Amino acid sequence: MTFSPTPATSGGFIRADDVLNGKLSARRSIELEQNYGNGKLMQLLDVLGVIGPMQVQSPWELQDPSGHGVINASGYAALPFGDNPPELNLFLRQVLEHTDQVMLSQQIATPWRSALEANLVRLLSREAPSHSTSRVFFSNSGAEAIEAAIKFAKAARPKARYIVNFTRAYHGKTLGALSLTPNPTLQGPFQNLLSPNVITLPFGDASTLERTLKRIGPDRIIAVIVEPILGEAGVRIPPPGFLKRLGELCRKDGILVIADEIQTGLGRAGHWFESIAGGLEPDILTLAKPLGGGMVPVGATIVRHDIYKRMLGSFETVKVHSNTFGGNSLAMAVGLKSLELLMDHDYPARSRQMGERGLKRLQAMQQRYPALLEDVRGAGMLFAMNFRPVARLPLGFQAHLISEATGALALVAFYRHGVLMNFSLNAARTMRLTPAMNMPDEVFDRMFRQVEATAAAYPSSLKLVQRYGTTDLMRLIKAAFLES
Ligand SMILES: Cc1ncc(COP(=O)(O)O)c(C=O)c1O
Repeated sequence: MTFSPTPATSGGFIRADDVLNGKLSARRSIELEQNYGNGKLMQLLDVLGVIGPMQVQSPWELQDPSGHGVINASGYAALPFGDNPPELNLFLRQVLEHTDQVMLSQQIATPWRSALEANLVRLLSREAPSHSTSRVFFSNSGAEAIEAAIKFAKAARPKARYIVNFTRAYHGKTLGALSLTPNPTLQGPFQNLLSPNVITLPFGDASTLERTLKRIGPDRIIAVIVEPILGEAGVRIPPPGFLKRLGELCRKDGILVIADEIQTGLGRAGHWFESIAGGLEPDILTLAKPLGGGMVPVGATIVRHDIYKRMLGSFETVKVHSNTFGGNSLAMAVGLKSLELLMDHDYPARSRQMGERGLKRLQAMQQRYPALLEDVRGAGMLFAMNFRPVARLPLGFQAHLISEATGALALVAFYRHGVLMNFSLNAARTMRLTPAMNMPDEVFDRMFRQVEATAAAYPSSLKLVQRYGTTDLMRLIKAAFLES
């Protein structure tokens, strides 16, 4: 008897070719997402009118199903070259056509992985020569890169107990990384699963750090983990000298320093590594977002060799930390090419230069519309706008709901004027712009013109609320704050 497979469609299954050929409509995709995925998030995005699905018009421009076009300043800093960049797309096709390497390669050496390991260490040691013998561990997300960093640090200082982190830091949502992300909403129901061995200190305050290290005793502290610029807290830059001082305080007592450069690193904030630019040479450095070129997930933890070998340095322990997919050939090939593009075009320098230009425009906007913008901040092509809380409320809505909704209303207003922005996980009423580092001058300037036009149309936070409309506001508050 011959085996004849049943086409998936016959049982209500969706064929891959149908998706490839655009046969799954936008509405149906939304329905499926709402029914089978994170329905509440999808409902919220739907109410806001920003749910997509989006079609890529150019690496920097998207179009929604209604034909409305937006410049993509979102992507959470993980789109260094925009959406579906042609150079990477072409390279990926070539890889798939020509490579004879196995794709999942946990137990064999591969040219792709080896090349990316070597290039990352070379790049880091060019900026910080003490890293010339460092090692790289690959994973599949930023949070996983942090998990690896925690384990490397603890294995190297087995008797120590505490990790010091900073207020409003964001290091991810897996349990280890979440322990280091002091956000009560995110930690909420998971509190008792999180590590109690975390000491959170005010970001940017070197004296408190010095006093605390002394009080706890340096031998009891595994590491200090720091984002050199707080990304999810809305682009908060520490006072000058803070990072350098942090490094000095830790080095003198052998406390390890983990720099989380998942958002800031590889040019986004204007330098290859913001920690090093700030005078801090970390012992462990984490990277992710842009390394995947906006196409595949790649996380990397770069570790000084003497620390690395404390966890993975003997035959008995080489598998103490490993994963199935980290370092796979596809991810490594894209990572290798992404790093090459970043280097060939010196995108960190461009990010710095465009960042200054963009920040000046935001600062001018803030002066012009103080009732809309409480503050603006920027580092390279990482920009933040803090919207003012609404002081006078229409229709007796609860103040805190409206205030929390202000960020979402701003997102909608900017979207309607053609710019898609990012929420900020650790900062209320704060939206971030993270345009691609290769965004052409013309698109970049158009984006800022559209941002300025939005501010002119909504010169105060109250206007954001009033113009959104009462019915829509009720739907939004219901979707955002009430159980379905
Ligand atoms: C500084 C920082 N660390 C860690 C993470 C977690 O990365 P992922 O979302 O890939 O797990 C992020 C993500 O925004 C981040 O900005």
